[in-house]
Amino acid sequence: MYRTHTCGELRLENAGESISLSGWVQRSRDLGGMTFVDLRDRYGITQLVFNMEENEGLCKQARKLGREFVIQVHGKVTERSNKNSKMTTGDIEIRVNEMNLLKAAEVPPFTIEEESDGGDELRMKYRFLDLRRAPLRKNLELRHKMAQEIRRYFDSEDFLEIETPFLIKSTPEGARDFVVPSRMNEGQFYALPQSPQTFKQLLMVAGYDKYFQIVKCFRDEDLRADRQPEFTQIDCEMSFVERDDVLDTFEGLAKHLFRNILKVEIEGSFPKMSYDQAIEEYGSDKPDIRFEMKIKDLTSIAKGKDFRVFDDSEYIGAICAEGCVGYSRKELDGLTDFVTRPQIGAKGLIYARYNQDGSFKSSVDKFFGTEDLKAWAEELGAKPGDLILVLAGERTPTLKALSELRLEMGTRLGIRNKDVYKPLWIVDFPLLDWDEETGRFHAMHHPFTSPKIEDLDLFESDPGKVRANAYDLVINGVEIGGGSIRIHDEDLQKLMFKNLGFTDEEARNQFGFLMSAFRYGAPPHGGIAFGFDRWVALFAGLDSIRDVIAFPKNNSGRDVMIDSPSDISSEQLDELKLQKKK
Ligand code: AMO
Repeated sequence: MYRTHTCGELRLENAGESISLSGWVQRSRDLGGMTFVDLRDRYGITQLVFNMEENEGLCKQARKLGREFVIQVHGKVTERSNKNSKMTTGDIEIRVNEMNLLKAAEVPPFTIEEESDGGDELRMKYRFLDLRRAPLRKNLELRHKMAQEIRRYFDSEDFLEIETPFLIKSTPEGARDFVVPSRMNEGQFYALPQSPQTFKQLLMVAGYDKYFQIVKCFRDEDLRADRQPEFTQIDCEMSFVERDDVLDTFEGLAKHLFRNILKVEIEGSFPKMSYDQAIEEYGSDKPDIRFEMKIKDLTSIAKGKDFRVFDDSEYIGAICAEGCVGYSRKELDGLTDFVTRPQIGAKGLIYARYNQDGSFKSSVDKFFGTEDLKAWAEELGAKPGDLILVLAGERTPTLKALSELRLEMGTRLGIRNKDVYKPLWIVDFPLLDWDEETGRFHAMHHPFTSPKIEDLDLFESDPGKVRANAYDLVINGVEIGGGSIRIHDEDLQKLMFKNLGFTDEEARNQFGFLMSAFRYGAPPHGGIAFGFDRWVALFAGLDSIRDVIAFPKNNSGRDVMIDSPSDISSEQLDELKLQKKK
């Protein structure tokens, strides 16, 4: 038997017991006649003691142990004289009387402790070592617990967990597909699913009524902290439902997770906010509503005062940073640098200080007098002591930049508290999104999303104004999930494809199977998919989803540990009848 206990298990009440432990040497220290070793496994760390006086041979052996050696020890649990309250096993130590070296280890390339001295790339290369560290282990434990709770919730609500295939045909989720060549079907390719969208709809046609799956999805898109090329969705679909049936069910899931994982009760229903309102007030379709600082439109009151920048702008918007009147010149320059960096793209930043004595000082005093600035302050609900920050330009990019500025100010003011959770539903998205590059509409969500029935007439007159029966779950500024009520009527689906610029033949080629299924009795249905990695990261208080994925890719989509993607042999290429382009 390798062990009687784990390294996280023994307590004072075990004192006097003879036990065996196995694990990795995290650290060892020699102090006079004693050697102390921290022995680690998944469950924790236990201190081992070797005493020169009691057993010189064994103590000498212990002194030779290197970091990450795997050992087994037998010994007696004893009370520690200097207890360590930071360790769960900190009241005891093991007086070792026998040790077996199970496997020596090379010196690891970085320290494997709470904090590591290894850089990102190095830790990714040796991910199996990084995963030994407690913070990563805790993230994966959280992920596991969440997956269990998700299954428990869905099971209690009569959902069936059903797997869908990975080798499929392109699914339209807006990214590029990863493709897989088929050996048996020369010259043809599978696409890996960007989501199981079409399959879950087919399961509804098949009568399965309530489906879910915790499933890998694959998207070839530019990577960011919250995006991986392969990621996990909690994918769900229900039949005979309207929007609010879907929202209620999944609000139930969210509350279940908050309650059982974080011990947080979210009172009442999650607020619903229209897409238009979110953009107007927060500049974003994933507003962080933990704090106010809403964007106000100053266009009508700030134009026409001979200030060219404003007069030439389609839109002028502002936020009020409470209590920030004392911002120094340097801090304001820093904010200007922030909004003018290429990713944000504002042309400049205008500010107005609302001084404690009620006077104003702005960067545009030449054009705007006290009365003007007072009007801005009134619009923003600003008080003496506040700082008004203004951006101007084209409406959409300016609102986007204001959103970034608002988040930055929220972070600087420390009002984006990670222990506070503010979920909300964003509803009534536009159905179609005009793409300047291709000169045609794209489905904002995907082509199976139902328009709002009351907007159908707009298809003829102003398709860009048609709203979708779609919704996103946003928590603390993170888009956790998105879904919609689906089109289950062939004619409406055809109209949708037409507006997306598909010819009948293109639509038949790509989605004929779904259209044909709809002819055999499709129930009204709708669903949603949540980004599982994002949800775990949010609950772990982390910004990057990489830390909650056991083996993630780096920003270039590479797995540097297994060195993938990589070349394949010419035999493999021949077998697939593929040739590399020079
Ligand atoms: P959508 O494309 O909005 O919807 O995806 C659902 C959720 O998946 C997460 N997500 C990602 N997470 C990590 N890396 C990525 N590259 C990535 N892309 C998306 C987000 C997002 O909200 N089939 C529809 C759902 C439906 O209509 O039911 C779909 O996939 O959290």
